[in-house]
Parts: sequence; structure tokens; C-alpha cells
Amino acid sequence: MSSSVQLRSTDPQDLIRLLQEELAQTNREVMSLTLELDKRVEQRTAALQAAQRELECKNARLEAANRELEAFSYSVSHDLRAPLRHLQGFTQALQEEGGDQLSPEAREYLRLILRSTETMSTLIDDLLSFARTAQKPLQPEQVELAPLVQQVVAQLRPEQSGRTINWQLGVLPAVRGDEAMLRQVWLNLIGNALKYTRNQPQPRIEIGCRPGDGELLFFVKDNGAGFDPKYAEKLFGIFQRLHHPSEFEGSGLGLAIVRRIIERHGGRTWGEGAPGLGATFYFTLPRES
Ligand SMILES: Nc1ncnc2c1ncn2[C@@H]1O[C@H](COP(=O)(O)OP(=O)(O)OP(=O)(O)O)[C@@H](O)[C@H]1O
Ligand SMILES: [Mg+2]
Repeated sequence: MSSSVQLRSTDPQDLIRLLQEELAQTNREVMSLTLELDKRVEQRTAALQAAQRELECKNARLEAANRELEAFSYSVSHDLRAPLRHLQGFTQALQEEGGDQLSPEAREYLRLILRSTETMSTLIDDLLSFARTAQKPLQPEQVELAPLVQQVVAQLRPEQSGRTINWQLGVLPAVRGDEAMLRQVWLNLIGNALKYTRNQPQPRIEIGCRPGDGELLFFVKDNGAGFDPKYAEKLFGIFQRLHHPSEFEGSGLGLAIVRRIIERHGGRTWGEGAPGLGATFYFTLPRES
């Protein structure tokens, strides 16, 4: 603020008047700056409020869509069960009652029909479990991840029989979360690492945690079949699979369940891989969780 005081007289009255003028001018400038500042704060607040409203709207729409999808998969799974049971029942009846009148070819067809109904039944079970995971309320508590992961590795012993896995288990912290759901996350990720290293003569599975910015980063890394990184994001979708069932069995729901659970805990999920060079799957949890 530049001074407009110009001393032309030494008369104290003049001096006082000049100083008063200067003070009034300064006051006017301060007032106008305050008004300008108020206006800017108001504009900024309005913009922020509009952005917040838009975000809330988007969130509400996303949540509604999620709920709708979950309710849909739940009822689809239920409604699919009845016709499937009929199909299974009548095929079995045909096998038992008319089996000896049928040609070997026709009996083979019946066997294939039954096998397909079993596959479909597994898919429905998995879809139901996905819908349940998505709908069940979270029950957050303090969860010690080190023993939990040890239990999961022990639980997956059948997938390790006859194999020597080189396990690299890093230090894992305690987190806040739903224990049963977090167990499901590790079961799916470690289960995948075991499954997709099946053809690897020297399987190595590394599990660890790195502190990140306001979050904890967890990973499961293997040196198995790997995958084309082009599809890294797709793998988290329902029923998305890159490997043929004749090579690696599965429904393609494990990673979708992992993503849903981690999202519900406020975290993120992603995967990295290269064909023949193994895969690493990551998830984060907020630090306070
Ligand atoms: N560790 C891994 N290495 C290589 N590919 C993987 C790995 N984990 C997942 N994938 C790929 O991602 C796909 C989806 O994985 P996801 O766990 O959802 O399904 P799945 O293992 O095929 O079946 P499910 O888990 O339902 O039994 C798999 O079919 C596979 O192609
Ligand atoms: Mg899986």
C-alpha cells in the first residue's frame, strides 16, 4: 500500500488531517480487499460444495448400482438352482431307468450333461458366495495377519502335497478389519499362487507388506504361469479367466471377491504379471484400519 501523505506544512492540525485522510484511505483499501477476499472465499466454497454434492451423488449412484447388482446375482443364483436340480434329477433318472436300452454314445451324452450341470452348480455356489460377501455387514476388529496367513497356508496343505514350495513370508502387521473376510482374501490370493505355480518345478511364493503413504501395501508374488498384463484389470471381473479349465480349474470369482472385500475395507487391488514369468497381486488397507 503506497503512502499518499505529502507533508507541505508543519502545522499539527494539518498533520492530523493528513494522517486521518491517510488512515481513511488505508481503511477503504482494507475494506475493498476484505470484500474481494470474501467474494473469493464465497466462490471457492460454492465450487467446493458443488463438487462435493456431485461426488456424493456419484457415490450414491455407484452404491445403488452395486446393491442392485448384488441383489440381482443373489436372486439369479437362487432362481437358477431349481431348473438345474430338475435337469440333474431327470438325467440321473434316465441313466438309471433307461441306461441299458441306450447306446454307449447316448450314455456318454448323459454323462457329459451331468458333468456340465455339476460345473454349473459350482458356478452358482461361487456366485452365491460372491453375493453374500458383498452384502454381509462388515464386522471390524483387530486382526493379527501373521497367524492368519500361517493358518491359511496350513489350510491349503492339500494343494501342496507332493510339492516343495519355497515360502518367503515377510513380517505382517495387525490391521483393523473383518477377520473372516480378510481370511477369504488371503485364501484366494495364496490359493491362486499355489494353483498357478503347479507346473513350476521350483515354486516360490513370497508374501509381504510394505508401508505406503497413509496405507499398508500387501502382496502375494509367485513364479508360476503368469498372465498377459493386457488383461490385468479384467481378471478382477466376475467369471473372468485367462487359463483354460483343462489346465487350471476354477470359476473366475476369486479375484472378484478379493476386490469387493478390499474395496469395502477402503483399499485398492491390482495385479502384475507376464506369461511364464509369474504374477504379483497387491492390495492396500488404510493405515488406521
Ligand atoms: N497367481 C496367478 N498367476 C497367474 N494367473 C492368475 C493368478 N491369479 C489369477 N490368475 C488369472 O486370473 C484369473 C481369475 O482369477 P480368479 O482367482 O478370479 O479365478 P480362478 O482362480 O480361475 O477361479 P476361482 O478362484 O473362482 O476358483 C484366473 O483364471 C487366472 O487366469
Ligand atoms: Mg482363484
